[in-house]
This record gives sequence, C-alpha cells and structure tokens, in this order.
Amino acid sequence: MSELSRRDFMKGAVVGTAAISAAGLFAGCAPKSSASSSSSTGSSSSATTSTASYVLDPKTMPDASTGHNFDVAPESKTTVGTTLENLKSAIVGETAATTKYATWAQAAEKEGFPELKRLFSCTSDAEKIHIELEYALASKLDPSYQKPAIPEVPTYTSGTNLIEAANGEIYETSDMYPSFIKAAQAEGNSEAVQIFTRAKLAEAYHAERYLNAYSMIDTPSDETYYLCPVCGYIHKGEDFTACPICLTPKASFKAY
Ligand SMILES: [Fe+2]
Ligand SMILES: [Fe+2]
Repeated sequence: MSELSRRDFMKGAVVGTAAISAAGLFAGCAPKSSASSSSSTGSSSSATTSTASYVLDPKTMPDASTGHNFDVAPESKTTVGTTLENLKSAIVGETAATTKYATWAQAAEKEGFPELKRLFSCTSDAEKIHIELEYALASKLDPSYQKPAIPEVPTYTSGTNLIEAANGEIYETSDMYPSFIKAAQAEGNSEAVQIFTRAKLAEAYHAERYLNAYSMIDTPSDETYYLCPVCGYIHKGEDFTACPICLTPKASFKAY
C-alpha cells in the first residue's frame, strides 16, 4: 500500500474496501507467489481485482510467518495446544464475548445509548458467526464435541463495557488468533488457518469500532452498523461496497 493510501485508510477516509483488502490487509502478508494468482474460489462480487482473488483461497491465505500484523503480542496470555484444542479455546472465548455483548447491549439501552445498543448487538452476532465456523471444524475433528455452557458475565457502565470489549478484541486479534494461526499452519490445517485468520482480522475491526464508540460516547452518531454474514466484519456507515476481509458484497450485510 502506498503511503498516501495507508494514511487515508488510517484516517478512515472514504477508500474502496476492495482496494483496502487487496492492497492493504494482505499485501504484506500473502506469500509472494500468490500475489499474481488469478484463481478465485468464491464470491462473484464486483470486488474482483487480480490481487484480491487469493483472499478467498484457503491454500493461499495470509502467511503468519511473514505478515507483520500476525505477530503474537509480547508476554502472550494464550495457551496454545493442538488445532482442535485451540478451536475449543476460541469457542469458549467467543461464547463469553457474544454473551457479554448481548448483556452490554441491554445495559446500553437502559442507560440511554441506542447507538451502543446497536453496536453491542451487532458485535454479539459477529461472534456467533465465529463460533459457528469454529464449531463446524471442531466437530469435524471431534464428532463428540459439544459447545460450552453460556457463562455468567459481569456488567459495568457502558463506557467501561466498551473498554472491556475493546481490550478483549485487542487480545484476540494480537495474541490469541495469531498464536492459533501459527499452530494451524505448523499442522498444515489450511481450513483452520482460514477460519482463524478471518476471525483475527474481524476482531481488529471490532476493537476499532468499540474504541471509536468510546471516544464518541457523548457525541453519538446515528450511522448504521453493517455486519458481514460470512466473516463477522463490521462496517460503520455507508461508504463501502464489499467486505474487506472476505469480499462479501454490501447487499448481503445485515444492518443494525
Ligand atoms: Fe470480536
Ligand atoms: Fe466478510
């Protein structure tokens, strides 16, 4: 990505999401041999640049050994096991997250923050997508596996709930999922690599949405949040055409 487009992206300027996907999220991560690949395994969305097509191919997903935002945070808090164990750990974490966000959506509504209610509800649903993707693979590897029980979750005031939520998302995107991606790559499990990678990238956006909502809590907007039904990416506002992670077109997104 050029310096100009990187700055525009960081400022939240109106940048075509297909361009972000192709030039930004994956440019530094994909194996060099895949950059010129023209194969595509999925969406017929209008976001069809030659550099974006490999995003949908699990055999050429971003490479955790070379991608700079796939590094594991210092003093990692993640216990890494086999990919099956990691899938089960991720499901536990995502189950806690979806439950917290659903609870915190209700708290936000009671406190008079309708925008936060929409954001927490949208993100709660996003984590359910991750759970289902991870559960599908975990039960393929272990047919006897059952989803964990719904935990009791704490609740605070909405500002603190936002910070708690952002902290959880940052942990997942910078520590848990990068750790699990590396383990899945070492095992050669490309399906797990794809599931963890898409979740990892979505969690970074979730953190960004929560921090934005926290900084704007006293001056909220009524902009719509949109949820990608395939990977759990969340967009705020109308300025996009497709998911920057999985290229699902905007028309398929759910509005909150
Ligand atoms: Fe998340
Ligand atoms: Fe997506």
